[in-house]
Amino acid sequence: MEKQIETISYESPAKTLLISVSIIVPTLDEKENIEALVAGVDKVLTEPDWELIIVDDDSSDGTADFVRHLSRSDRRLRLISRHNRRGLSTAVVEGVLAASGEIVVVMDGDLQHDEALLPLLIETIRAGDADIASASRFLVPEGISGLSSSNRLSMSRNGTGMANRCFRLNLTDPLTGFFAIRRDIFVAAIPYLSELGYKILLDIVVSSPTRLKVVEMPFILRTRMNGTSKLDGKVLFEFLLFFIDKTLGRYLPVPIHFLSFSIIGGLGVFVHMAILAILYSELQADFMLAQGAATAVALVFNFTLNNSITYFDQRLHGWAFTRGLLLFAALCSVGIVANVSVATIMHNRYESLIYIVPALCGILISVSWNFAATNLLVWKK
Ligand code: GDD
Ligand code: MN
Repeated sequence: MEKQIETISYESPAKTLLISVSIIVPTLDEKENIEALVAGVDKVLTEPDWELIIVDDDSSDGTADFVRHLSRSDRRLRLISRHNRRGLSTAVVEGVLAASGEIVVVMDGDLQHDEALLPLLIETIRAGDADIASASRFLVPEGISGLSSSNRLSMSRNGTGMANRCFRLNLTDPLTGFFAIRRDIFVAAIPYLSELGYKILLDIVVSSPTRLKVVEMPFILRTRMNGTSKLDGKVLFEFLLFFIDKTLGRYLPVPIHFLSFSIIGGLGVFVHMAILAILYSELQADFMLAQGAATAVALVFNFTLNNSITYFDQRLHGWAFTRGLLLFAALCSVGIVANVSVATIMHNRYESLIYIVPALCGILISVSWNFAATNLLVWKK
């Protein structure tokens, strides 16, 4: 007897309720702010056609469990909980990929972004007046009152100047993390994004295959009341990498991880020289001992920086850190042998070459080997 397969058609139970707006909120340890955030959004968005997607990176304060708890009684609230992942930009991208609305809004989860601006941001996109409607901190003098320090202010100003000059933009706040955009435009830009660090708006504007019209509107950044900012030196370094990727990276088809690895390697040379100078010329230590110690310090320096910056989303901790460091040292020593051998052979064979050329070739070989080998074996995905 052949079994008949019945085809059933799916009918949505709520035909009249179409989600048109998805609000994406990346979170890292924002448990104390979530309830007020949801309440604020609920208050200003009077039509029930929205969803709020929280993308949490395994916060240690229980943010994800709390959102899950709230979402049990409110279907408009959704949670994406990521494991072993980090990064504001990638979190936003994943939220957008999961969104149902035609319009997406990106906002912070720490209450610094004033939800009162949501209707205007959304209406601007809905009316077709812009591809991106963004909330700028620099259109009214009091807009920046919520920045935690004058240091943060000057960082924002410098970053803004750099972005405008470098990418020929004319925005008052290209670094804002509060904006609305059509989902299809965001999705079209995804394959070209750098996804480094915090600057997802700038990333979209610079990477999008089509030129986007951005309309800025003023808002007043609130002071953070609960929790702490996650912006640190690592985020700033990523900002630098973003610039390199978007300028030099266009002509230099190497992975951004490789650039980061090489820059850190360059810094490691300075560390090496500093230690060598102290031990050998200041403290008159034996050269071999001084060189050995400098090499060891530079190695630990390189490993630690790569672990927290280049591979910030795959950071090794505890025992895995020690094991990784030993493996890193072993693999890099192979690189050093290859470097010295190739450079020496070249130098001996092509005497007319100025010595810098074989030296650089040797360095290039060891950096490439070190990167490839450690990428594959130390920080494997
Ligand atoms: N999922 C996830 N993963 N969320 C993160 C991560 C991460 O690695 N890092 C930070 N967040 C979340 C925070 O929990 C917060 O909701 C939001 O991203 C912004 O982080 P803050 O740590 O509060 O950053 P900020 O206030 O220093 O900077 C923000 O505001 C600036 C001005 O509006 C960012 O949005 C900047 O991009 C923006 O320029
Ligand atoms: Mn903040």
